[in-house]
Amino acid sequence: MNLEALRAELQGLELADDDATRATYGHDESDQGDFLPALVVFPRDAAEVQRVVRACNTHQVPLTPVAARSGKSGGSLPIHGGISVSLERMNRIIAIRPEDLTATVQPGVILGDFQRAVEAAGLFYPPDPNSAPYCTMGGNIAENAGGPSALKYGVTGDYVLGLEWVMPTGELLKLGKQTIKGVAGYDLVGLFVGSEGTLGIATEITVKLIPLPKVVMTALIPFTDVLAAARAVNAVLLAGLLPRCLELIDDVALEAVKGKGVPFPVEAGAVIIAEIDGTTEEGVFAELNLLASITQRSGGLEAQIAVDRDQRERLWATRRMVSPALRELQKFKFSEDIVVPRSRVPEAIERFKAIGTSLGLTVATYGHAGDGNLHTNVLYRSVSDRPRVELALEALMKETVRLGGTITGEHGVGIAKRKYLSLEQSPELIALQRRIKVLLDPAVIMNPGKVFPDEP
Ligand code: LAC
Ligand code: ZN
Repeated sequence: MNLEALRAELQGLELADDDATRATYGHDESDQGDFLPALVVFPRDAAEVQRVVRACNTHQVPLTPVAARSGKSGGSLPIHGGISVSLERMNRIIAIRPEDLTATVQPGVILGDFQRAVEAAGLFYPPDPNSAPYCTMGGNIAENAGGPSALKYGVTGDYVLGLEWVMPTGELLKLGKQTIKGVAGYDLVGLFVGSEGTLGIATEITVKLIPLPKVVMTALIPFTDVLAAARAVNAVLLAGLLPRCLELIDDVALEAVKGKGVPFPVEAGAVIIAEIDGTTEEGVFAELNLLASITQRSGGLEAQIAVDRDQRERLWATRRMVSPALRELQKFKFSEDIVVPRSRVPEAIERFKAIGTSLGLTVATYGHAGDGNLHTNVLYRSVSDRPRVELALEALMKETVRLGGTITGEHGVGIAKRKYLSLEQSPELIALQRRIKVLLDPAVIMNPGKVFPDEP
């Protein structure tokens, strides 16, 4: 690694290596520790990104693409040092095309800004990993972000049509398509979306849009018992309803937001947040009432219905608060994002709580129960609890795979879940992916050390 030669080659680009900047870019939301880059570079266009990547190849300096640093698996942490490449200066919405139902953005565009601009054109870009006010389109591409509305509308990858992409060797490619359909060649967009910063950097992103649903209503349904709530989620889907969101929040997560002036019934054993959208007030209201009566037959208490934007926003603001509030409950936590087949959600919640109890740890579960995607959080108070926490996490991952699930539904493997990948994937499958990585990044400089377990 020859950093001084690299720095000389990057003359004219915006660089920072002061302690405060390095500390900022060495930290994310994954609780995986701090890993400071030697240097942070802020390219302004694709040509500058290419320059950085080529220089890193020449001087054998690892580089880690970084977005809003709100990731939960450590994807943007430069664990082998080197440089962090922040795409935040590339934050232009290039085009919104109502007639084509597509849009093109640079990677540093804040998701919430993009969603507002799209809405102003009467259109909708649904994916939101629950961090729209600060996460970026590029980060969402890197992690293939999901979020509450994935139940009805799918995840980021379902919307990406085309990418302008800087390869780990520095070539600039146009991949995918600008049209809604297109099957020429291999699906490299599918490979690169969710590649966690290991296979290149998006410099332009073209996504599809859909018409904006005219009416949205949200119901908050309390339960005395989390398992009844989980069973109610399945009853709703079995009845043929497809809400936009079906979120579950358990008693521990409710406890975490208590006293924070929130509209949740914090004394309940669990709540479901169900959101339905459609074209007419009457239609949406009728579906929401049907949903409420289905959940009542599964033990749900009286639903509160949020009909206007303000009430809905208050509910969702509280939902967004759950993750940070859980951290405050006991100082430290690991936030998982496992997925199990929907039919196994009640069993999974029960098993995860039991794992916590047997190890004397508090386990909270909330998240996208309609997708079978649970944010199981293991809370702990001090570093000396870590060995027990590790045991809990391993048991949780094994249980997830046993139930037919996956270790990560939306946060990515990063460094947080590397050691569990082989619980889910065969040695042959991991080896194939390693071969793809080395084929595209022969110098292994792009976000090294992520996704795959250490080589034996
Ligand atoms: C959420 C993030 C943690 O759903 O995925 O809140
Ligand atoms: Zn989530």
